[in-house]
Amino acid sequence: MEFTDAVRRRRMIRNYDPDRAVPRAVLDELLDLAVHAPSAGYTQGWRFLVLDDATSCADFWAATTDADGEPDPWLSRMRTAPALIVCFSDKEAYLDRYAEPDKGWTDRDEARWPVPFWHIDAGMAAMILLLGATDRGLGACFFGVPRPYWDALRQAFAVPERLVPVGVVSLGHPAPDVRSPSLRRGRRPRAEVVAYGRFGALG
Ligand SMILES: Cc1cc2nc3c(=O)[nH]c(=O)nc-3n(C[C@H](O)[C@H](O)[C@H](O)COP(=O)(O)O)c2cc1C
Repeated sequence: MEFTDAVRRRRMIRNYDPDRAVPRAVLDELLDLAVHAPSAGYTQGWRFLVLDDATSCADFWAATTDADGEPDPWLSRMRTAPALIVCFSDKEAYLDRYAEPDKGWTDRDEARWPVPFWHIDAGMAAMILLLGATDRGLGACFFGVPRPYWDALRQAFAVPERLVPVGVVSLGHPAPDVRSPSLRRGRRPRAEVVAYGRFGALG
């Protein structure tokens, strides 16, 4: 698939064919692409937890959702994903990297960072997973893990304390899906979001 087509065709897919697994080899191909993402200082402080069997995926949902809550249509559909890749960021890796002589931020002061590049880099890698999935005819969705569930996630999968779950990419073969209500907003045209030279009237 051409790059432009992959970008234009990519949509978040929230319902999957539960009977079609994503082979480990395909997940590895996608992850091999993901680690080509750019990263600040070439730190590559991302980590990926791959859950691609029914038990691990069930453990993920048990750890990150409220068992006593109302049955949730979003969750029922997302649970059909045969594979989940949890994308983590490792802030300490960036503070260590930028304390090296070529960067020189030996005080490891977080105030030096204009924005948290550790999260951004994990997001860049996740974007490659999404586009790679589209390129291979797979469906994928990026979603967050609510903060109250981070500890349970860490416990369930022996995740080191310093890693922050930036988000999860679900993967599988697409099944008929419900259109996200968010899409009613429509795509903001370039003219609304791009300023050339100066912002002026563009707020
Ligand atoms: C940072 C981020 C967080 C998101 N979180 C969720 C989420 O928690 N649940 C969900 O269903 N979709 C989530 N999405 C998907 C967006 O709803 C989706 O990208 C948006 O509606 C545009 O649709 P499209 O990606 O299919 O074009 C998230 C997307 C991003 C980039």
